[in-house]
Amino acid sequence: MRGTRLKSRLVRLAAIAVVAIVASTGLVACTAGSDAVKIALLLPESKTARYEAFDRPFFEKRVSELGNYDVLYSNADQDAAKQQSQAEAALASGVRVLVLDPVDSSAAASIVAAANAQGVPVIAYDRIVNGGKLAYYVSFDNRNIGELQGKALVAKLDADGASGGILMVNGSPTDGNAGEFKSGALSQIEPSNYPVLADFDSPDWSPDKAQDWVAGQIVQFGGRIAGVYAANDGTAGGAIAALKAANVSPLPIVTGQDAELAGIQRIVSGDQYMTIYKAMKAQATLAAEVAVKLAKGEPVTGDIEINGAPATLLSAVVVTVDNIMNTVVADGIYTVAEICTPEYAAACAAAGIR
Ligand code: GAL
Repeated sequence: MRGTRLKSRLVRLAAIAVVAIVASTGLVACTAGSDAVKIALLLPESKTARYEAFDRPFFEKRVSELGNYDVLYSNADQDAAKQQSQAEAALASGVRVLVLDPVDSSAAASIVAAANAQGVPVIAYDRIVNGGKLAYYVSFDNRNIGELQGKALVAKLDADGASGGILMVNGSPTDGNAGEFKSGALSQIEPSNYPVLADFDSPDWSPDKAQDWVAGQIVQFGGRIAGVYAANDGTAGGAIAALKAANVSPLPIVTGQDAELAGIQRIVSGDQYMTIYKAMKAQATLAAEVAVKLAKGEPVTGDIEINGAPATLLSAVVVTVDNIMNTVVADGIYTVAEICTPEYAAACAAAGIR
């Protein structure tokens, strides 16, 4: 009798401790039944729209379709130490699987080690983890994404008969993908007629830091800037803001990635040349399906093997003003009404987006 009471008191204390951890780390649990199996989704940052707009909702939706699972969600806000605590909190609360998009691809090896020590499999989501044993990796061919960006930029500069050079605004130096994007882009830019004037690795993929850096380069290079390789739409937005603030006209050719709504709107208005549309729904859905299989202890298979883990790399396509309708609109990612707000209505009409 006393034993039973003590046990229930301990269970209650443990529950309170988990609630406290959850509250202090920003981990968000969705409310499935109390017997639900827990799966953690750890996303890296909040300056890029994709994570809250697509990855999280698509993942949660698919998991909920597959049974009684509780997704413990957290966003690290570009902070590797915060992500480490979020992972520890998730492990302490008894998750069966970790789906991890690391802020820092190297530092996150300790998260994988901690999970593995508890017998919890880890799916590397979008960004690989350098170290530790992964159960699965789902991403894109990130070097190819860089090639697509670089190729589109060079082809457009050639078509315009441009002269001058390129500023490279790369992604976060702690994100393994950013290095892949950069080397893929360089493979296209280096043999071209457009020398790299200067390059910058944007800490945390921060649009503000990209903007500040580009502002400084405008002072130095002015009219010699023919193109800006921006690794994603967030940094493209920062670069374009700096160019506009300095009244650079016409704007250089600017690249991007992620098909963010703001990026698509800048493409419609002509401020940004292209973006990369990644199959994020397929990515999140596959991660959810693999996570559920792993939670059940079922085997998982990939198309290829990367760092010793089964892996799937999904496809990505270039979007310019010419194919907005048959990519992001056709796939139901955005409606024409969402893109063509009053500010963009005239540009949309001119581009045949209706
Ligand atoms: C990369 C990711 C991109 C972009 C960027 C900034 O790892 O592949 O899609 O979101 O991070 O978060």
